[in-house]
Amino acid sequence: MIQESVSLKPYNTFGIDVNAKRFAQFSSIAELRDVLAELKGDQLLVIGGGSNLLLTKDFDGLVVRNQIKGIEVIKETDEHVWVRAGAGEVWHDFVVKCIQMGYGGVENLSLIPGNVGASPMQNIGAYGVEIKDVFDSLEAYHLKTGKLETFDADACDFGYRESVFKRSLKGEYIICSVTYRLDKNPTINTSYGAIKQELQALKVSNPTIKDVSQAVINIRSRKLPNPEVIGNAGSFFKNPVVDKDLFEEIKSDFEEVPNYPAPDNKVKLAAGWLIEKAGWKGKHIGNYGVHKNQALVLVNYGGASGSEIYDLSESIINDVEAKFGIRLEREVNII
Ligand code: EPU
Repeated sequence: MIQESVSLKPYNTFGIDVNAKRFAQFSSIAELRDVLAELKGDQLLVIGGGSNLLLTKDFDGLVVRNQIKGIEVIKETDEHVWVRAGAGEVWHDFVVKCIQMGYGGVENLSLIPGNVGASPMQNIGAYGVEIKDVFDSLEAYHLKTGKLETFDADACDFGYRESVFKRSLKGEYIICSVTYRLDKNPTINTSYGAIKQELQALKVSNPTIKDVSQAVINIRSRKLPNPEVIGNAGSFFKNPVVDKDLFEEIKSDFEEVPNYPAPDNKVKLAAGWLIEKAGWKGKHIGNYGVHKNQALVLVNYGGASGSEIYDLSESIINDVEAKFGIRLEREVNII
């Protein structure tokens, strides 16, 4: 079941070609236990869809790829339905299935790369919705004790693109399944301006969840590179949250600066805009660079190394800091 010296290129959406000393896939908790029994003190890296990962070197340990599948309705009332999905399900396939069944709540999150297991890990979000809005609970395998534990939303302690699994419990649990609470009578969320415009362009006046999904798919396909064609990991950086004073300073120079209110009287800025203003949008450096339609996305046109992309991200961070006094944080996990 465990293979030696395996290229991870097919397993990361950046398409970075590094080797794992050992590699295994698991599609059940029993298989996971068998694989972990062979860990033998090695370093462990758990991957799902590999869509939020930058691999900068060969991995001198055991890489395990979560392939736990299955989507089932486990409970329902007149209004809601609780759907449990295996962590190894492809996120967008799950969204499509929910839409087919007529259950609302995840349609704004269409086409986000990655697997179900990553959705609570980093509280994925797009177009006015975050996973925490539909999250019920998850089951995770505790590496230390070998026990399965259930986490509700409070225990996950969701934040902007993060959860307890990226902070204090980092590396301690493997998410095995996630249960979402969806709506049988969906409320359409078109609060995000671009969706409204897209629905108008599609000439839809009374949108269904399928229409919203289609609008999101259209917007994302225009702005974001398809990882199957151009290697990338979606947003490479987080949108920074800054003090009001700094925001006012930037605004006095750039009237148009996109901004969103954040807690504690702070302001969230668009990292893509800052990177564009720092002159990086669309830059090609050999076979990698910054995407031409969304500067938040770094791309591998083929054959780039992870450390080259990491160095590019470092240059961007430094330039944005020099220009705006804001130090961008990476959203992608660097291994
Ligand atoms: N903008 C620019 N130049 C750019 C990119 C963006 O000026 O190169 C401006 C846009 O014009 C807009 C603002 O920045 O005024 C925000 O841009 P956008 O709507 O594309 O959203 P974002 O804040 O850049 C976030 C998420 C995306 C998500 C979109 C839509 C983060 C880090 N990223 O991007 O998530 O799809 O909102 O909701 O929060 C991802 O996490 O992988 C991802 C793609």
